[in-house]
Amino acid sequence: MQKGATFALGIGLGERLLASAGKPPLSGELTPAASPKFPPKFLWGAATAAHQVEGNNVNSDNWLLERAPNTMYKEPSEDACDHYHLYEQDINQLADLGFNAYRFSIEWARIEPEKGFFSRAELEHYRRMLEACHKRGLTPLVTYSHFTLPRWFAYQGAWENPESVDLFARYCEKVTAHLGDLIAYAATFNEPDIPFLFHWINLPNAPAGMDLAGIMAAQKAGLRQYLNAPQFSSFLIGDAEKSRENMMAAHTKAKAAIKSAKNIPVGLTLAMEDDQPEGPDSRSAEKQADVYAPWLKLAKQDDFIGVQTYTRSRIASKALPPPQGAELTQMGYEFYPESLEHTIRLAAKETGVPVIVTENGVATEDDTRRVEYIRRALHGVKRCIDDGIGVRGYIHWSLLDNFEWIFGYTPKFGLIAVDRETQKRTVKPSAIALGKIAKANSL
Ligand code: BGC
Repeated sequence: MQKGATFALGIGLGERLLASAGKPPLSGELTPAASPKFPPKFLWGAATAAHQVEGNNVNSDNWLLERAPNTMYKEPSEDACDHYHLYEQDINQLADLGFNAYRFSIEWARIEPEKGFFSRAELEHYRRMLEACHKRGLTPLVTYSHFTLPRWFAYQGAWENPESVDLFARYCEKVTAHLGDLIAYAATFNEPDIPFLFHWINLPNAPAGMDLAGIMAAQKAGLRQYLNAPQFSSFLIGDAEKSRENMMAAHTKAKAAIKSAKNIPVGLTLAMEDDQPEGPDSRSAEKQADVYAPWLKLAKQDDFIGVQTYTRSRIASKALPPPQGAELTQMGYEFYPESLEHTIRLAAKETGVPVIVTENGVATEDDTRRVEYIRRALHGVKRCIDDGIGVRGYIHWSLLDNFEWIFGYTPKFGLIAVDRETQKRTVKPSAIALGKIAKANSL
């Protein structure tokens, strides 16, 4: 197949997935937790990622990806939620609602816009954000790399290039030297297992025999041709095998670099589906070994593991679509908040380290469904705690309705709505409901 032709395969993917959303009635019973109280100092927060909320991340690889011809991105990120300028207002809002933690990422593409040049001005920007958190009693959890990368790094092959290991560790060291005194928890990577997960995602209406990994590879081929850059790569479209090898080494090296600058707890966060075997030919165990196991093993040496989950996946010889009649979210996922309890149990068992729920949420225009999702997910968290599992916090995805990658601004994950014309924020009832739970530290 010609490169130009393969590149076009991603067009309209977002719309096709979104078109499959519907809302049949809910099923599933709750077993109530023993006591509604959470442990003292439990972290209650919401999360964002720099590229999805800051706006004008022009020096990042994603800025290019979104604007390339035949891109699979529904729309470009542009000003996003202008959180780069409005962070103080957003942080104050989170604190006013009753939360005590904020998870956000710092943008490598801003901090090191040219290889070897570290911008003190940009580091100071993130220092001001951290100070704003502390001023309002919010514990900051900082992700050093949430998908997006500096352009120069992408042009030299991103994570496929073995030099990425040292370059990432150097960036982490510089950041921690400047900001470490204000960071409570550091995550090197957000969901580094995603490229392997893509092999297990068969999209409705995808070209015959193509999983999401194949579609991403086609995007990369097209981009290399368009940019006339034979090495160009990026996290989401990178070669999964090569990238994993380098990212695992980068995590270990970066953790040492962070700790040499400031001894803060370091971990990583994982994308986890609640995998449920279906039938005698289920390949569920193979998926677990393929996607999560290497990272869970590595995380045994860490200070915590971040669990991020949105739904379940029923696995026969391949991932099955949601059951007939199941309620679907705007992402086309099954509405299945119980996935959180199951993935926490798995991560805790496999790693033996404390768990922080670093993302969990639902894309919906109907905020009453978000309230229900949160309530059921939190009952699962509480059952884990009651069983003696060390869960340290629940950080909801997301603080704001934001740029949902290839799906653009259509899916609404936020506790707070954003008018992208005026940047006016509107607090949703789900934000008030979760804030109330946070304040009471109780269900
Ligand atoms: C990512 C977020 C994303 C969220 C919802 C996670 O995979 O870390 O960046 O917006 O899921 O899809």
